[in-house]
Amino acid sequence: MTTSIKPQPDSTYALAMGQLLVLYTQVDQFIMEACADRLNRAPDLASKMGLAKQVGDECRHVAIQREWMVQFGVDQSAVIADAALAELHVHFHRLDWIDFLTELYLVIEALGSQAVEQIVPLADPGTRQSLQVPLQDELDHVAFGLSELEKALAKLSHEERQWRLKQIPERINALVAWLDGQRLPIAGWFEDVGSNYPRLCELLRMRRDEMLVALAA
Ligand SMILES: [Fe+2]
Ligand SMILES: [Fe+2]
Repeated sequence: MTTSIKPQPDSTYALAMGQLLVLYTQVDQFIMEACADRLNRAPDLASKMGLAKQVGDECRHVAIQREWMVQFGVDQSAVIADAALAELHVHFHRLDWIDFLTELYLVIEALGSQAVEQIVPLADPGTRQSLQVPLQDELDHVAFGLSELEKALAKLSHEERQWRLKQIPERINALVAWLDGQRLPIAGWFEDVGSNYPRLCELLRMRRDEMLVALAA
């Protein structure tokens, strides 16, 4: 069976999967730092505890991915530039709680982990194994973020809640546009690991719309 053969490190597949793993690990580290930065400003003990747990989870994900990338022979040079990540940290630091939850959980966690899930069935056994624990935890993170967002929206007056709900798609689009502006060849990486990128984008749009409908209910 060809599936049991470890991919050659210089194959198109291995190079693309390596870049996706570097990207995923950089994003997890970013989330770990953004949650830690937000910890003492979270509105109550439950939200602080959720963020603290997540800092630990993301730390574990970074360690798992880094260890797997060494075994897989991945060039771990950053794919998102340090300056861009610093800019993103400043942006997240300034967001109020509702915008922070929207951008971190609806975009980075929910849509990001959906994208990673799409490549699991296409991945080699080692990569698939390395993604198992992280993806399981991401489900908890998305659930935490969405419930915190519902809780925060429920505290607002009817008018303010409606106004905030109207802003959410714009916030999602602005962050997605910023990510697009980094000009990473993500579409090519997904295609090179065997994914259908237009189909993936369609799935992400459907997931975004489902979350927006659930929030507005
Ligand atoms: Fe993670
Ligand atoms: Fe996460």
